[in-house]
Amino acid sequence: MNPPILAPSLLASDHAALGEGAARVAALGIPWLHLDIMDGHFVPNLSFGPETLAALRRRGSALFFDTHLMLSEPHRYVGAFAKAGADRITIHVEPAINHVATFAAIRGHGCRVGLALNPGTPAEAVEPFLAEVDLVLVMTVQPGFGGQAFREDTLPKIAQVDAWRRERGLDLRIEVDGGIDLATAALCRARGADTFVAGTSFFRAPDQAAFAARFAAL
Ligand code: DX5
Ligand code: ZN
Repeated sequence: MNPPILAPSLLASDHAALGEGAARVAALGIPWLHLDIMDGHFVPNLSFGPETLAALRRRGSALFFDTHLMLSEPHRYVGAFAKAGADRITIHVEPAINHVATFAAIRGHGCRVGLALNPGTPAEAVEPFLAEVDLVLVMTVQPGFGGQAFREDTLPKIAQVDAWRRERGLDLRIEVDGGIDLATAALCRARGADTFVAGTSFFRAPDQAAFAARFAAL
């Protein structure tokens, strides 16, 4: 099984001090930062855009920018996010877009490719694309807001994607996002998840170093 990776979600950080939030993650030796991008259409909320990533890079952030596009038309913004400093660009399977062409555009910009699915979307929706992506993001809440309760009904999908990964010998990570804390991460880990987005639980943890150490031992 892939070693566990913790990806703190900057969405749960103080939005008037995002640079400090990112710097705290780096100071703890955590290599990844999860960036949630919302368009007020695919999800009923707005967050931040490419300029925020670019500003974090200008401040010297060398974190791996795990960029989650919750957008109805993600293909229109791939170039902007890549230029701004994204390392991975994850798009959703639900919008009726040309996913294969969008993956090619993401790779063409030198970024890694992720594919996300919402709680109501069956695992079969991502199955045809598994060989073309580096990561599958199984949403464990309905996207749009941090701080929601983890949905246990998403656990079988993690196990299904893991089963396909093993059967086909695929080199891809399985990420979970939404309501992740140490307890829910353990449930996901037992089904094959290896990459854990943590917003509220990380930024509200009284001892973030201890929190990160416990994730590393999952
Ligand atoms: C939800 C976002 C998540 C969110 C997770 O729309 O995709 O990444 O930040 O937040 P928590 O960990 O608080 O559930
Ligand atoms: Zn996310």
